[in-house]
Amino acid sequence: MTDKLEDVRPMFELRGRNYIVTGGAQGIGFAATRAICEMGGNVAVLDIQSKPVEDFATLSSKYGSKTVYIQTDVTKQDSLNSSFDKALEALGTIDGCVPAAGIAIDKPFVDQTWEEFTRIQEINVRGTFFIVQLVAKQMIKQGSKGSIVMIASQSSHIGLPGYRMAAYNASKGGILMLSKALAVELAKHNIRVNTISPGFVDSDMTRNVRASKSKREGDQMWLAPPLQQLSTQNDLTAAIVYLLSDGSRHTTAADIQITGGLHAGTIDGVISHED
Ligand SMILES: NC(=O)c1ccc[n+]([C@@H]2O[C@H](COP(=O)([O-])OP(=O)(O)OC[C@H]3O[C@@H](n4cnc5c(N)ncnc54)[C@H](O)[C@@H]3O)[C@@H](O)[C@H]2O)c1
Repeated sequence: MTDKLEDVRPMFELRGRNYIVTGGAQGIGFAATRAICEMGGNVAVLDIQSKPVEDFATLSSKYGSKTVYIQTDVTKQDSLNSSFDKALEALGTIDGCVPAAGIAIDKPFVDQTWEEFTRIQEINVRGTFFIVQLVAKQMIKQGSKGSIVMIASQSSHIGLPGYRMAAYNASKGGILMLSKALAVELAKHNIRVNTISPGFVDSDMTRNVRASKSKREGDQMWLAPPLQQLSTQNDLTAAIVYLLSDGSRHTTAADIQITGGLHAGTIDGVISHED
């Protein structure tokens, strides 16, 4: 006799579910937003920019999703709280969150300033902490299950070959541990908390870093991962959908490393930097 087995495809459905994505005006946050809509979900994007990429406007007609864009500075308590209220008003209920707003810095540790360090922690750590708190409070109030997918990084695990990102490493290490602590604490409310840890992903963030470096240093982004490619935003979206969906209903406190194998090591990478 076989155990009762369920179809897998419906487990990935996000139809009718409502999500908040921070940092969704562009890049990985927008890729997550588009993927959620494709799977039937509705999304409120909170981002500091005055408007999102043009494709944002096509999501509701293309996928029949409800989308709302709310300009928000995740470092400002009033801005975050009032944007959350607007998102809840637009969506009605909340089923999860992808806090993707983040910034990075590549600079020798001894040169990183008080202001640079503080800005990174305010956006990457505090901004994530408090949007997730607002979302969790709401889901507990609703008495409904939920899923939070935080964006950690390879920088949560290792010093990236050729890069010096101490303040960013500290922030993303914080995100990885925050997700574990919340996974344990919120489990009794049926709220799951997981992370993805991308390696080098093509986005404005990495394009800006590469623009400030020599070609040799920049090339490490695709030479170092064993698969020898720079990740694209599309390499991350299926994992985000999986972790938000019922497909991962028994998965919490997990981290999916999407690095082209870099987290396991490197053979051909040019491990050097120019001072
Ligand atoms: N690109 C990579 O290689 C990579 C790798 C691992 C993790 N990540 C993480 O993925 C996330 C998204 O990064 P990305 O590569 O898409 O970068 P990105 O610069 O393209 O996008 C970051 C977004 O965050 C928004 N943002 C910045 N400050 C904000 C603030 N104060 N309030 C609200 N929104 C703010 C920006 O406007 C932007 O839309 C970040 O958390 C980043 O640390 C990126």
